[in-house]
Amino acid sequence: MDIKTAQILDGKALAERILTELRSRIQVLQTEVGRPPGLAVLVVGNDPASAAYVRNKERACAKVGITSFGQHFPTDTTQVELDQVIQALNQDAQVDGILVQLPLPKHLDAVSLLHQIDPDKDADGLHPVNLGRLVRGEPGLRSCTPAGVMRLLEEYDIELQGKRAVVIGRSILVGKPLALMLLAADATVTIAHSRSSDLPAITKQADILIPAVGRPELITADMVKLGAVVVDVGISRITDTVGSRLVGDVQFNSVREVAQFITPVPGGVGPMTVSMLLQNTVLSYSKWRPDAPKAT
Ligand SMILES: NC(=O)c1ccc[n+]([C@@H]2O[C@H](COP(=O)([O-])OP(=O)(O)OC[C@H]3O[C@@H](n4cnc5c(N)ncnc54)[C@H](OP(=O)(O)O)[C@@H]3O)[C@@H](O)[C@H]2O)c1
Repeated sequence: MDIKTAQILDGKALAERILTELRSRIQVLQTEVGRPPGLAVLVVGNDPASAAYVRNKERACAKVGITSFGQHFPTDTTQVELDQVIQALNQDAQVDGILVQLPLPKHLDAVSLLHQIDPDKDADGLHPVNLGRLVRGEPGLRSCTPAGVMRLLEEYDIELQGKRAVVIGRSILVGKPLALMLLAADATVTIAHSRSSDLPAITKQADILIPAVGRPELITADMVKLGAVVVDVGISRITDTVGSRLVGDVQFNSVREVAQFITPVPGGVGPMTVSMLLQNTVLSYSKWRPDAPKAT
């Protein structure tokens, strides 16, 4: 195979199209439901990266007609206080989706908070019930970043059946659910991680290579099979002679010479994640029934 340079998998453009579709869908549903969809984003503390992510999400909500119920809590907020906020949001008929922005301050238990969210309002798709539905292949709210990766592959008609897919990273947020989604699409899946030996030997076998690590430019051209599809989930901020910027796990300029398809960072998986969050909110909203619990 002779690759000149890889075709870009344009997550930014696709995400914009998805937002436009969601906007139209909301306009239709709103006449039936009688209110706009609502997404509650809970932020605790002053992490600047979290603040930027939340701003992005709120901007995207405004674009499609979802009401944001953003709530910002001081760093010393207790677990009990947050549990109570989540219980109230579970009962609030204006709210279709709830998400807790991670990371949380160290004294808080993120897993226990996620358990409090009504699985049918679990916009991030991280509640054990939704992860269980994914394992069983049942419909449910799917984790946003892996769902965004799958949607991007689908958009570019990338064949997965029988292909070797290598996911690097085994987090509950990305690596594990993504591996399950690829498996459901009949790929042959390998999950590599920090204890895997000879990572290049593993990555070289991948028809579809998806690093989700958070190590700037870990993947170099010599680690990639000629003609592979490379989807870069990693995002790291680095400061060098060029200045401060975001980079992925993939050394983009060298890998694009061997890959057939590649995502940029930024503009690849990041915008897809936000669009899947909104899609999950609209999915919950579309199932809204008048007998749902009323706001107190
Ligand atoms: N684009 C988006 O929308 C989006 C969304 C979510 C996350 N992200 C980005 O994706 C990256 C991963 O996020 P995460 O939450 O999954 O991170 P995480 O929880 O820190 O997981 C990182 C994974 O990478 C593995 N790893 C670390 N160093 C490695 C190495 N040298 N070789 C192979 N594997 C290695 C770890 O292995 P062990 O399990 O053995 O420690 C772990 O499984 C981050 O850069 C994050 O910012 C992007």
